Amino acid sequence: MSSYIKKVAIVGVRNYTFYTASELQTNNINKKATGNMGKHTITELQKGNNHSITVLTRKGSNLSLSPSINILEVDYESLENLTSALAGQDLLMITLAVNTPPHVHSNLISAAGSAGVKYIIPNAYGFDFHNEGINADVPFGKMAQNYFPDIESKGMIHFSLICGFWYEWSLGLPWCYGIDIASRKAIFYDDGMTKMNTSTWIQCGKTIATLISLPEKELEAKYKNRSLHVSSFRLSQREMLDSLHRVLGTKDEDWEISYENTKERYQQGMQDMKNGDPTGFSKAMYARVFYPDGSGDYESSKGLDNEDLGLPHEDLDEATKRAVEMVNSGWNPFAA
Ligand SMILES: NC(=O)c1ccc[n+]([C@@H]2O[C@H](COP(=O)([O-])OP(=O)(O)OC[C@H]3O[C@@H](n4cnc5c(N)ncnc54)[C@H](OP(=O)(O)O)[C@@H]3O)[C@@H](O)[C@H]2O)c1
Repeated sequence: MSSYIKKVAIVGVRNYTFYTASELQTNNINKKATGNMGKHTITELQKGNNHSITVLTRKGSNLSLSPSINILEVDYESLENLTSALAGQDLLMITLAVNTPPHVHSNLISAAGSAGVKYIIPNAYGFDFHNEGINADVPFGKMAQNYFPDIESKGMIHFSLICGFWYEWSLGLPWCYGIDIASRKAIFYDDGMTKMNTSTWIQCGKTIATLISLPEKELEAKYKNRSLHVSSFRLSQREMLDSLHRVLGTKDEDWEISYENTKERYQQGMQDMKNGDPTGFSKAMYARVFYPDGSGDYESSKGLDNEDLGLPHEDLDEATKRAVEMVNSGWNPFAA
């Protein structure tokens, strides 16, 4: 008889007010269940209805989720408090904002170990954090690598997600994929033809939900202490702009297109970061992963787990349309 993960704790689910019209229409999203990784994972887990979900949140966050989700206010500084909150959970998924102090992650791992949690999904959802070249150049690049020994030393098992940059997020923020939808400006990195893997939030949520719905024996045999490589699309900035043309009904002539060398853009981003520009980090990170050396194309170098997990093929223009709707609605993930 197979056993399955039943009790899932998720830490870091933001109260977030943005939904695209198509999300509301097609995905039957609970308007109150919000966030980025957290929101989409919860949406997909609820479709399966196989898990009891507990969300851990800071005291006073006033998190409001669907009634079937148990919300526990915790003190991220108290190991005792976190341990008692995690007692009885099978899996802890950590999805914390990038500016969360690093010791919060360590506290959660320690508490999960003390509480007897078996599985951890650490806070790493992006570029290939096993790529030593990227890790050497991107600030905090090695952070994900450090989570694994921490988890294993406490007798727990981890599964981590390499999904590339989030597609809608990165297309919606001009300093990421270099495309400013609102002002119709595009900066192509090098010649704009370098391909990289990128994933939609929906695909990321589906990945986690599918993974943790596997029978434990299969889950461990295939994925124990492994990083999953998934991707919605492998594409270049040129292909992103072509998709935008189809969605917006525009042509290159309607856009101001310029070019920047990725190495120079990386250096500029690092300098901007030192000067206190909050976009400097992302600018440097995206430029580095776009180096024309295959850094961002882990599909070609390592292959994908999409098929093994039975993830659906997605429509690029639908995803592009969601990014356009986000921008048109005034989406700002950095708003308070
Ligand atoms: N692939 C990509 O393109 C991409 C883009 C952005 C981020 N990411 C990754 O995904 C992870 C999760 O990002 P996300 O956008 O889902 O997270 P988020 O919405 O920015 O934040 C998640 C939660 O972190 C918690 N938190 C704890 N301490 C915090 C603090 N000091 N300041 C702000 N929030 C704090 C908050 O929950 P409580 O209030 O309940 O504590 C918040 O809701 C990031 O760490 C990063 O690794 C990937």
